[in-house]
Amino acid sequence: MKALVLAGGTGSRMRPLTHTAAKQLIPVGNKPILFYGLEALVAAGVTEIGIVVGDTHREIRDAVGDGGRFGARVTYLRQERPLGLAHAVLIASDFLADDDFVLYLGDNFLVGGIDEVVADFRAARPDAGVLLTRVPDPSAFGVAELGPDGRLARLEEKPAEPRSDLAVVGVYLFTPVIHEAVRAVEPSPRGELEITDALQWLIDQGHVVRPTLVKGYWKDTGTAADLLAVNRTVLDGLTPEVRGTVDEGSVISGRVRVEPGARVVRSRVVGPAVIGAGAEVVDSCVGPYTALAEGCRVVRSGVADSIVLSRAEIAGVGRVEASLVGRDASVHSTDHVSTAHRLVLGDHSSVHIGH
Ligand code: DAU
Repeated sequence: MKALVLAGGTGSRMRPLTHTAAKQLIPVGNKPILFYGLEALVAAGVTEIGIVVGDTHREIRDAVGDGGRFGARVTYLRQERPLGLAHAVLIASDFLADDDFVLYLGDNFLVGGIDEVVADFRAARPDAGVLLTRVPDPSAFGVAELGPDGRLARLEEKPAEPRSDLAVVGVYLFTPVIHEAVRAVEPSPRGELEITDALQWLIDQGHVVRPTLVKGYWKDTGTAADLLAVNRTVLDGLTPEVRGTVDEGSVISGRVRVEPGARVVRSRVVGPAVIGAGAEVVDSCVGPYTALAEGCRVVRSGVADSIVLSRAEIAGVGRVEASLVGRDASVHSTDHVSTAHRLVLGDHSSVHIGH
């Protein structure tokens, strides 16, 4: 069994961060979202992985390499334009050949792994398998309708009026019959070859598409709020460990990881939180639910419920919360500010907050 991981696309909902970076590489709990998917595949015994890449291919290649560090063998497949999930399968047909495969959307985050679903699929071997989960607003997803017998009756992509609360999760299992389906479907109104339509085609042709209800936590990380929610979930499972230096004037409480080379000086870190390698926290309060990536600096500031990417600097700001701060961004104030600020900052941006 192989895997096809989708890491192309434009990431338009995550701009400005994705002007310069792949959305699948935005870290949660200081690890790129894409890595959780790769680890879940390898844990399920799937090590032959094709990664579909688009404009951000260089960055993805730099981060993942040949897959060796994950225990996988990775082949990159270039998609010239993001023409849809079924289009990605179409261009991967030589790589996939006659093998069964897992299609894994690189921006999806699933707690609990996919070992069981992969094992069940291997044992029962239906023509295809989809994972479903109940969500409050399914209109942002593919939506499934089950028949009275519990079989999958119908799938619709982002319907204005969903017929159920069952959203399609971005992990699919396929036998080679999907190649016929992706060749048969036409572009949708949004101009994409939809995997949802390919699955509907399979159902219409009398093939068995098996639905499995996901029990654990799942998130499609399309927005900053989604990423912060996943960040909180990951940090809740953090193993506390101090490998950097914490001075006597500082207090660390709860689940906190301080990476090698990081320095905490006259500060308070409230877990769950992770302070990345080489980061500096001085005269500040960090956490809870905060991930500072490597090389960040937080000085005379408060940061809570936030993701701060590599080398960003926050100085003299009363309190930053529910924020996503891009790489090399700087947030400064000339004087003390006591109100909270909510920010989504692009890479290299610079914000000066007055009073
Ligand atoms: O996350 C689950 C949802 O994923 C499902 O409920 C929907 O049925 C399914 O269509 C898909 O919807 P999205 O609109 O969220 O897909 P998105 O465009 O965000 O693409 C998902 C991933 O695939 C993302 O990592 C980018 C990548 N991608 C996307 C397209 C359209 C590609 O690599 N190539 C593409 O052509």
